[in-house]
Amino acid sequence: MTPVPTAIALLPGDGIGPEVVAAARTVLDATGVPLTFAEGEIGWECFEARGTALPDETIELVRSSDAALLGAVTSKPPDEVGPGRGAFRSPIVGLRRALDLHTCVRPVRALRAEDGELDLVVVRENTEGLYAGLDFRPTPDGLADALGLGPDLRGDDVAITARIVTRRAVRRVARAAFAIARTRPARRVTLAEKPNVMRATGGLFLEETRAVAAEHPDVEFAWENADAVCARMVREPARYDVLLAGNLFGDLLSDLAAGLAGGLGLLPSANLGDEAALFEPAHGSAPDIAGWGVANPLAAILAAAMLLDRIGEAAAAAAVRRAVDDVVADARTLTRDLGGRASTAQVARAVAAAVSVPENPETRERRVP
Ligand code: NAI
Ligand code: MG
Repeated sequence: MTPVPTAIALLPGDGIGPEVVAAARTVLDATGVPLTFAEGEIGWECFEARGTALPDETIELVRSSDAALLGAVTSKPPDEVGPGRGAFRSPIVGLRRALDLHTCVRPVRALRAEDGELDLVVVRENTEGLYAGLDFRPTPDGLADALGLGPDLRGDDVAITARIVTRRAVRRVARAAFAIARTRPARRVTLAEKPNVMRATGGLFLEETRAVAAEHPDVEFAWENADAVCARMVREPARYDVLLAGNLFGDLLSDLAAGLAGGLGLLPSANLGDEAALFEPAHGSAPDIAGWGVANPLAAILAAAMLLDRIGEAAAAAAVRRAVDDVVADARTLTRDLGGRASTAQVARAVAAAVSVPENPETRERRVP
């Protein structure tokens, strides 16, 4: 019986995005998992050519695929877009909203001995918090009136970003965190929040996470102040297993963890919804090195491994991670951010050559996303 191939959307984007997506594709091909690929346009070059960074057909492509792999996109602040061009909106934020990709998962693992013992997963709320887009400058009069803002807190010299937290969003991201903790030996979730300062939003986040913790008596739960987590992560990284956080804190904590674990070039990221899933390296488009063929593809390759897990190809996913570990440990074929001299394509070929999937199709099981 020939297995039905899984449909993968590839969104190379711009900058180093196309280079690292091509590298990930090389490795996916080496696993022998039956996949079909369709490419979609996204990002800055797409905006320049078509006036939108996220065409509707790209959203539809991701929606109708089993999973998507994104490279990177360049985001421009309004003053760099130029007049009369319309607003450049982050297409990644747009995709997260359009497809309700509510949970961001970033496993961070130190691959080199010199980077210590860090092995944690940041699970970040992906749709609200301070990144919900409730952003005002100046504050509209109605809102300023409702907030009771005096004249000194109005006008163009005052800006407000509002943080929104809903019980529903906390519940689903917390449930994802506890589900991930159950698959890990330490079975521990730590919430990074600031409930004593942001009593309303932080308080609700903590309250609902506690309720979810009560559903998971087999998983240890604790909460810590988000700032304290930063200091402890540097000094005592093994303290953390699954780290749950809101949108902003999760963004910062995952970059901090990545920095400790050898740099952004190694960190994959998943945006998970109930209907769709988008995998990407956590780094950006790296315009300073784009086109040179020297970008580290390992983050994109590890993102592809997460994609394989999502589509039920756990054995292939594990094989890709082992291959990455081997190439890093061997240290002969690394890009220059890791102290090597290899090109993006050389690293991809080295990982592809190291991939060895146990030949037992019976273990392949299609998981409902
Ligand atoms: P960046 O991650 O693109 O680059 C930061 C630094 O890390 C640069 O020195 C870069 O050369 C290096 N770097 C990043 N990825 C690397 C890799 N795979 N191999 C070797 N070195 C690597 O972040 P930056 O500079 O803040 O942003 C550049 C652009 O990317 C901006 O337009 C930003 O908006 C966008 N961006 C896009 C993201 C995405 O597509 N998800 C995420 C973050 C930023
Ligand atoms: Mg970030």
